[in-house]
Amino acid sequence: MSDFISFENVEKIYRSGEVEIKALGGVSFGIKKGEICVIVGASGAGKTTLLNILGGMDTLTSGRAVIDGADISSFGRKQLASYRRFDVGFVFQFYNLVPNLTARENVQLASQICRDHIESGEALKSVGLEERMDNFPAQLSGGEQQRVAIARALAKKPKLLLCDEPTGALDYATGKAILKLLQDTSRSSGMTVVIVTHNSALCGMADRVVRMKSGGVESVTLNENPTPIEQIEW
Ligand SMILES: Nc1ncnc2c1ncn2[C@@H]1O[C@H](COP(=O)(O)OP(=O)(O)OP(=O)(O)O)[C@@H](O)[C@H]1O
Ligand SMILES: [Mg+2]
Repeated sequence: MSDFISFENVEKIYRSGEVEIKALGGVSFGIKKGEICVIVGASGAGKTTLLNILGGMDTLTSGRAVIDGADISSFGRKQLASYRRFDVGFVFQFYNLVPNLTARENVQLASQICRDHIESGEALKSVGLEERMDNFPAQLSGGEQQRVAIARALAKKPKLLLCDEPTGALDYATGKAILKLLQDTSRSSGMTVVIVTHNSALCGMADRVVRMKSGGVESVTLNENPTPIEQIEW
């Protein structure tokens, strides 16, 4: 099976005035369709930069990024916008919900911009929030808010779900429940999921682990038998 995601010698250089920061220095790796890929590495290793390029939120300086046969590094602004809109779901560390909209309205906001989407109530039910749909974010716990964010991402029926430190703001048990939800969703829907974290305990849950160091890929390993979340500890 050919790669669903392929990074080929991707470089990202940020310039501010005279100063150049090389956030990615020639990164190459592939991810297969339906895999859960965990990207780990120390702070500053380039994980978020890589995820932002993968999600069409940032552009690369040189190299190629091919997703599902399309070279997104050649995309213009409009193509990137529709790629973000239709193909990618995002889950961030701090949920990024709109505070004056209910859980249901937050999900509707995202699904409204998609031709083909899951109904908001159904998406919230799939993350176990059928009872809390009419609550505002401030009336929900951190774990529940992250569930809303996941429902919002899934409602778009994305090809690819990108998560940047999805459990970074959650306590241990809640974090595990969120990871289980991500693992179950990937398994049941065949969705490709990329999770960025500095917690190397999460490597066990992945089909593929990409270890990053100083803007480069240090190693890529495959897990034949990923560990169920229940058995992962940190
Ligand atoms: N917009 C930007 N402008 C300038 N430099 C940036 C920008 N974004 C990231 N960098 C730099 O690129 C490098 C990689 O940053 P990145 O955010 O990708 O790291 P990270 O692995 O996600 O770290 P963390 O675990 O702390 O989130 C860092 O040196 C960072 O300071
Ligand atoms: Mg980061």
